[in-house]
Amino acid sequence: MDYGSELYLEYQKEKLLNLASNNYLGLSNSEGLKNASIEAIKSYGTSSSASRLISGNYQIYDQLEKVLAEFKKQQKALVVGSGYAANLCILGSLAARGTTVFSDRLNHASIIDATVLSRSHQVRYRHADTDHLEYLLEKFRERPSKILVTDTVFSMDGDVAPLESLVELCKQYQVLMVVDEAHATGVFGRGLAHHLGLEKEIHVHMGTFSKAMGSYGGYIASSQDIIDIIINRGRPFIYSTALPPAVIGANLAALEMIMNNLQSGRILLELSERIRTFLKELGFDTGLSSTQIIPVILGKSSLAMKVWQKMMGYGIFTGAIRPPTVPENTARLRLSLRADMGEPEEKMIKMAFSLMARDHELFSRVENS
Ligand SMILES: Cc1ncc(COP(=O)(O)O)c(C=O)c1O
Repeated sequence: MDYGSELYLEYQKEKLLNLASNNYLGLSNSEGLKNASIEAIKSYGTSSSASRLISGNYQIYDQLEKVLAEFKKQQKALVVGSGYAANLCILGSLAARGTTVFSDRLNHASIIDATVLSRSHQVRYRHADTDHLEYLLEKFRERPSKILVTDTVFSMDGDVAPLESLVELCKQYQVLMVVDEAHATGVFGRGLAHHLGLEKEIHVHMGTFSKAMGSYGGYIASSQDIIDIIINRGRPFIYSTALPPAVIGANLAALEMIMNNLQSGRILLELSERIRTFLKELGFDTGLSSTQIIPVILGKSSLAMKVWQKMMGYGIFTGAIRPPTVPENTARLRLSLRADMGEPEEKMIKMAFSLMARDHELFSRVENS
């Protein structure tokens, strides 16, 4: 794998290990992606200058979508402005006033916004709770048009959706199933759906190039019919300028790199497992995480901010995530690990949290007294 991205960032003049990016495979600074971007600029210039449907389409766009359809093992693929725009395109095209959209309570904000904008009836089920979902599917059984949408890897918890059971329920209740693979693409090879052998059972697959792919832009992969509907109805696709050539060049390079190294995420998942086990042994609450995203759930926002600040003193930059992004009293540090972190970084993380465990006990006592 052509790694090469910076593992450290500078914050207030300190060099800190960056555990707050979504650059899971470290591709964003790789020579392969940078060169592909430069070559695309040389061939096509710096801007696409129009929407895809006007004159913003260029040959590498078609090439990217062809490779993407192959990668996702779907008939057709479409690249749009961002992952956010991809969710707006999907739900804006496939859902309308008469549609009932079943959505996991912890789905990403772009899914929530897309559902609201579609004017459909949103039915939220408790996080990853298939019993609750089944109850709701039964309740709305007679509804004529139904869609289920879920993240596959949840962005703030690092746990995974129960995809096998969701597929079964969707079949039973005749529901169109959409998965958001933003945090799984590249890490689980083609995506979690593919990792579990469910790619043919799920109707619409979306994701983004902005995380493990080290670039930018959203994608949708599905049947020819569904992609045609989105091309004709997806407002963020129709009414927004196409991504610039530099981005498409990098996306193509990233995709080819990942296709040639489908197992490259495994090393990251193994590192994550070691760190998670270590944190749990120290007494930290890592929720139900089973991926490269590890929450360290602390409770009050003020405690999370104290711990966040303290971690910087130990050379580690994390994300401090607070309500409303996560539920009340579950403020946390969000750690996102990277495949190109080696032994020094692993040691550094473990050392920092060992020191933190001592401080944490002290902080908690003060917070709760
Ligand atoms: C689950 C999920 N879906 C969609 C998106 C949006 O992707 P993008 O940043 O490419 O707009 C994100 C980004 O954070 C995400 O976590």
